[in-house]
Amino acid sequence: AEPLRIALAGLGTVGAGVIRLIETNAALIARRAGRPIVITTISARDRSKKRGVDLSPYAWEDDMIVLAERPDVDVVVELVGGSDGPALACARTTIESGKAFVTANKAMIAHHGLELAAKAEAAKVALKFEAAVAGGIPVIKGLREGAAANAFERVYGILNGTCNFILSTMEDTGRDFADVLSEAQARGYAEADPTFDIEGTDAAHKLSILAAIAFGAQVDFASVDTSGIARLRAADIAQADSLGYVIRLIGVAEPDWADGQCRLFQRVQPHLVPFDHPLAHVDGATNAVVAEGNFSGRLLFQGAGAGDGPTASAVVADLIDIARGEIGAPFSVPVTELEALPPAPSGHRRGRAY
Ligand code: NDP
Ligand code: HSE
Repeated sequence: AEPLRIALAGLGTVGAGVIRLIETNAALIARRAGRPIVITTISARDRSKKRGVDLSPYAWEDDMIVLAERPDVDVVVELVGGSDGPALACARTTIESGKAFVTANKAMIAHHGLELAAKAEAAKVALKFEAAVAGGIPVIKGLREGAAANAFERVYGILNGTCNFILSTMEDTGRDFADVLSEAQARGYAEADPTFDIEGTDAAHKLSILAAIAFGAQVDFASVDTSGIARLRAADIAQADSLGYVIRLIGVAEPDWADGQCRLFQRVQPHLVPFDHPLAHVDGATNAVVAEGNFSGRLLFQGAGAGDGPTASAVVADLIDIARGEIGAPFSVPVTELEALPPAPSGHRRGRAY
């Protein structure tokens, strides 16, 4: 069968992870995808940088836009980052050139996901972003496909690996905030600008995407009420511990009904989580998402939320879907049918938070 030809823009933590995964699991990927998935072309800023992977088999392209226009490329995988700039230009060009586009870039999807989805639907090409939310956890697929029959009452969880690594490591070791943040950066968990992590912005990007998928609503990043963990100190963690709690950065999205009006309530903030709650035991760069469906009941998705291997796993799963010929609407329904506000919840009894 004809191979699916991939161009990779961005060769950092995730990009190098994608190369390693495609090379290591080439045979099983080809079997499951029904055809080989091969990287043909790569791009980054610095051609001479050592990246721990052999880049010699691949053609180099300096310009991400030229990369997107190449006739020998079927899919562009964007692992550069940034809500606008080259990543967005590359996404638009790729889709307008009639090619599929895969990204881990939650900032771009939170800000421009609807525009890109509308373009992809018009061009009948795939736009996929499983890796953008909760790293290696297939939570977009889980909500969009596995639990597609449900009306969701609420979706919430731990959506930032860096913050969870910082909080749980400070708890366990008493090390200070800046020291643990440096370790998270060294391990490849943090964003290029880590203020996106510690101020809650990255979790807010992910929450707005997750809420759009779960509620069939438009992505509404602007309305996420966001506070992060930048001001937390060891003394706060010790105080929480003395009262029987750990601190976790949690994003919550739910329809909020007041005076007959519905709005989508979305908030990211540090929570006190009691020791006996499952989210209190989510440690390190792990993420966990709880979704309350009216027929499925409570679903818990948990796994590595950051890092090269887990994130590459989600990116390549999207590529396998594309190799199999799956296009589909990028969100739960076509963009024109996404509602501005989520529909009224139906038939679900509100229970405990977990
Ligand atoms: P890195 O900073 O490690 O890598 C970014 C890559 O993009 C580098 O190879 C860099 O080139 C390249 N790049 C940056 N700016 C440009 C530009 N203007 N033109 C061309 N290339 C450019 O980031 P990550 O791999 O960590 O993240 C990539 C994306 O994946 C981001 O959107 C991030 O939010 C997302 N993500 C990351 C996760 C993680 O655990 N790290 C998990 C889930 C999503 P060079 O190397 O030459 O400098
Ligand atoms: N910086 C992000 C995090 C990467 O720490 O969760 C995964 O999206």
